[in-house]
Amino acid sequence: MLMFNIFSKLFKHKGVPQTATVTSPDRRLIAEFEVVGGVLQYQIKRDGRLVINPSRIGFELKNDRPLAKNMVIVRTAKKTHNEQWETVWGEEKTITNHYNEAAIYLAETDGAERLWTVRVRAFDEGVAWRYEFPAQPNWQAMEIVNEFTEFAFDWNSTGWWIPAYQPDRYEYNYTKSQLSDLENPVHTPFTMRLPLGCYAAVHEAALYDYGAMTLRPQDGRLVSDITPLSNGTRVGLVLPAQTPWRMVEIGQAPTDLMANRMMLNLNAPCKIQDTSWIQATKYMGIWWAQHLGELSWGTGERQAITTARVREYVDACATYGVPALLLEGWNTGWDGDWMNHGERFNFTEPVAGFDIDASLEYARQNNVKLMLHHETSADVANYEKQMTDAYAFLKAKNVHYLKTGYVGSRINHLEFHHSQIGVRHYQRTVEIAAANQVMVNIHEPIKGTGIERTWPNLLSREGARGQEYEGGALAPNHATIIPFTRGLAGSFDYTPGIFDVTNFTKRVATTITRQLAYYVVIFSALQMVSDRPHMYKDHPLFRFIQLVPATWGRSLYLLGEIGEYLVVARQVRDGTDWFIGGVTNENARKINLFFDFLDKDAKYTAEIYRDDENAHYRDNQMAYKIEAQEIRHGDHMAIHMASGGGFAIYLKKN
Ligand code: NOJ
Ligand code: CA
Repeated sequence: MLMFNIFSKLFKHKGVPQTATVTSPDRRLIAEFEVVGGVLQYQIKRDGRLVINPSRIGFELKNDRPLAKNMVIVRTAKKTHNEQWETVWGEEKTITNHYNEAAIYLAETDGAERLWTVRVRAFDEGVAWRYEFPAQPNWQAMEIVNEFTEFAFDWNSTGWWIPAYQPDRYEYNYTKSQLSDLENPVHTPFTMRLPLGCYAAVHEAALYDYGAMTLRPQDGRLVSDITPLSNGTRVGLVLPAQTPWRMVEIGQAPTDLMANRMMLNLNAPCKIQDTSWIQATKYMGIWWAQHLGELSWGTGERQAITTARVREYVDACATYGVPALLLEGWNTGWDGDWMNHGERFNFTEPVAGFDIDASLEYARQNNVKLMLHHETSADVANYEKQMTDAYAFLKAKNVHYLKTGYVGSRINHLEFHHSQIGVRHYQRTVEIAAANQVMVNIHEPIKGTGIERTWPNLLSREGARGQEYEGGALAPNHATIIPFTRGLAGSFDYTPGIFDVTNFTKRVATTITRQLAYYVVIFSALQMVSDRPHMYKDHPLFRFIQLVPATWGRSLYLLGEIGEYLVVARQVRDGTDWFIGGVTNENARKINLFFDFLDKDAKYTAEIYRDDENAHYRDNQMAYKIEAQEIRHGDHMAIHMASGGGFAIYLKKN
């Protein structure tokens, strides 16, 4: 029974129940929303036990009374939804969207009598709700000073988090701490282990025209902290309007969170009619040579993008079977302090020494797609001025892959990347890209909230500390945390595939074998083959990269503990073969792999790429073994992973 039942009875509105309960299809989760003393609250139970204790919901508005008190539920409408839909690309080909829903219609009992709706959906894998503000005669617009959606988890829960409102956006190492030790706002997805023994993550879905939600610790609970605008408010809305979905994903094991598809399910179906031009792919770049300092983004002796070099890299793509090639520094504006001079970037002017038409023609002849790059240095004003022309330029040149970048701590030196202004801008790029048949890979992006279901041309994004931070700033446990945290936000361009792990300018804190594992454990519909081509020449490990795809039919998260290790198996889309990847933190370990997911009565040939017994990410990174073995359903295998190491397996059905 609800603990606040007695109170609710006192505040009945003309006999309409002031409680709305939504149960998950499997009946294990119950979300109870209730108006208590005029205030909306909710709680979530799993198997009868509270996962979220009673938590309040409300809004503080500028020049208006708060939307928080004097509420009544005037009606609740319930429905059930159960469908399957097909992704254009992703971790699964087919996704089940099954939930029970309650639309809770609320009104104020005094004053303006403003109306709003809380729409709640309970899935087997969690609960989500959003706030909707319908068009109404006496309320046309609102400026939100504060949204307070509380999430009263047990304060003894353990969370894995990155800090919000920092200069490097989402590009931080994760900290593990008890909720009671949190001092400042953290980003979502925010993943937790609860004293109840299960795992939960708070995130949002379908973030459009709103500030991103961070979570602030306050009075022993997490409270939504919407990214502010420079004008002192957080969000401006014209009614009708709705917020993104507030989402609580729940699972017994941490790997269950990786299998959670609520975020995609809460987004609208695909809005692009013909998706035949949208293709997940692997891509090379001249990129790592730039990060190593061998080549530069700007002009001069080290200028990376020249007609000759692009030709050389196109040849490499053709030789190594990598379908696309990223060109950073193809346009003008990079000379000097580009990070602080975004206004210098021109998105239709190739740099001197680079014949773009000849290069595109050469790439076409070799069946390689060029991926152009728009670094903006977060000067969105400059970019928006040029966007129409810049995307028309891509279309005219028949370029379908684009990487964008927003290096800088504020958009236009003023607004957070994650503010409503940022969210709107990123969305404009996705939609103008779709209109020009361009697939995008956003770096320094807004976090993923599943809009790629609606706009599948948004193939990938960064939004975390990626391999560009190797050379000192990445520890082996990072990649055992991000799949459970950042990974819940979807496709992540981690840029795997560095074979030159012992390089003296940027030494990579992994064994070489682990670079293969990344293609499986970290999902991205754009997987980089990030090293310089000569590193792959005649390399026995490269075969795995050549074979591994960037989109899948099914994904199984076999084993994992956050910050410790992870093993993922993925099946080829429309095929029978499997790829398996495993990573561990700084602790070497042996894992036992059970092949109970394979087809019965079938035989598979396993190609196993693993760390040698004496491999170590610090001083023996190149020690690996390649083995072949026949595998059947029900077999098992013990695999050693070195400190900072991992393994990769290709299973071919015979
Ligand atoms: C940061 C991006 O993450 C990286 O991939 C890119 O090379 C640089 N910015 C330059 O744009
Ligand atoms: Ca970055």
